[in-house]
Amino acid sequence: MEELIRAALRARGNAHAAYSGFQVGAALEDDAGRLHTGCNIENSTYGLTVCAERVAVFKALSEGARAFRRIAVAAGGDILTPPCGACRQILWEFCRDIEVVLVNLKGERETLRLSALLPRPFDDSFLR
Ligand code: THU
Repeated sequence: MEELIRAALRARGNAHAAYSGFQVGAALEDDAGRLHTGCNIENSTYGLTVCAERVAVFKALSEGARAFRRIAVAAGGDILTPPCGACRQILWEFCRDIEVVLVNLKGERETLRLSALLPRPFDDSFLR
């Protein structure tokens, strides 16, 4: 857990948050124990910004990882930052009901299941 959190905090340092100034880092642990990190990458068009969580998920998938245990999300601020709606949907698609560990720079943390953040999700089960 400590290594996962350290990786998310380290990844936060690579954030390209030139417009919001809000830096976020994520670390996703796969079922082999490997860590895949991400940071938010903003864009001058704003709408093309990609969140830290999605960068981590897509990096992991592109490296061949397919099953995941947990993700840590690190951001500043007093209130722990949860994944946005788009990231919750992407996390559900590829990681299902994983543990989500929220951390801030004060060392505060909270662990919850994705299903608590995304109740009644839409997924491929509706397409069968
Ligand atoms: N952001 C993330 O990277 N992850 C979150 O969980 C919330 C928001 C980013 C997107 C944008 O670059 C900045 O934070 C402000 O919304």
